[in-house]
Amino acid sequence: MPLVPMRQMLDEAARGGYGVGAFNVNNMEQIQAIMEAATATKSPVIVQASRGARKYSNDRFLYHLMLAAAELYPDIPMALHQDHGNSFETCKSAIELGFTSVMIDGSLEADGKTPSSFEYNVEVTRRTVEYAHERGVSVEGEIGTLGGIEDGHGAGGTGLEHLTDPDQAVEFVEKTGVDALAVAIGTSHGAYKFSVKPTEDVLKISLIEEVNRRLPNTHLVMHGSSSVPQELREIINQYGGKLKPAWGVPVEEIQRGIAHGVRKVNVDTDNRLAITGAIRKVFVESPEKFDPRDYLKPARAAMQEVVEKRMKAFGQAGHAGDYAAKSLEEMTAYYK
Ligand code: 13P
Repeated sequence: MPLVPMRQMLDEAARGGYGVGAFNVNNMEQIQAIMEAATATKSPVIVQASRGARKYSNDRFLYHLMLAAAELYPDIPMALHQDHGNSFETCKSAIELGFTSVMIDGSLEADGKTPSSFEYNVEVTRRTVEYAHERGVSVEGEIGTLGGIEDGHGAGGTGLEHLTDPDQAVEFVEKTGVDALAVAIGTSHGAYKFSVKPTEDVLKISLIEEVNRRLPNTHLVMHGSSSVPQELREIINQYGGKLKPAWGVPVEEIQRGIAHGVRKVNVDTDNRLAITGAIRKVFVESPEKFDPRDYLKPARAAMQEVVEKRMKAFGQAGHAGDYAAKSLEEMTAYYK
């Protein structure tokens, strides 16, 4: 199937009452793991690349791998999304390359670190929306600021410093016309989100409920949604890794979010953990091996297993055949 505009995918998810996992990729094996998981569970899917991933892979490689995926998996709707675009220019270059969706993270200044003013966020997001919608491309914005740092992007901190203000969220959506809105509810990127099982005092699902009440037609996005399963951390540590204990976002909390308007769920860390654990296991158990396929194959399988579980939990499983891809031209006409 040709690449699908993310807006169409999220509209369908809203109709069906489910969420769509947005999984980060840097290389071929990760794309293959996602596509195999999507095929096994019959899921539509969002594949996303951060600025760091685009740089690491040289984004033309990444884009052509996605075209190969579209050719090889004609029954799977997939959107190609720029994760955390730090500036208008980053989003513009993704659109020129062929991404069907971009995130402009105007919650931070263009340095990707400094929390920005509301006015700056509105201005850079509005400009990106105008440029993207003229080309049929979907836009995700962010209001409030997530915690942690991912691929060098992020304000750091616990995620509680700059929570989303529901009044600002309403004004932001009105002024920018974004297709999807990332909300800061206490989550952060990475493997160390919470020191104990999170409750409402640190993971504010009630904030999602409030924003959803005020903006029932806006697709909400949960970032930092890895669950950091203990068993994945244990595999890494069993084979020589040194990860400290921590909690992620429990799947049932994500499901509460999905029940209240969350349509896109970002997951990266869980897949990184699965890949690293599988590779470490081969290195320790079979130190004589040196063919990269000996460890990349189990790594790919381990990631596929995680992605399949999330696809089932988020409710997107079984929905791949619900619709045919709209073209970007059709989306341009829709926005007009
Ligand atoms: P995790 O680090 O929780 O996987 O979050 C990924 C993410 O939000 C990408 O934008």
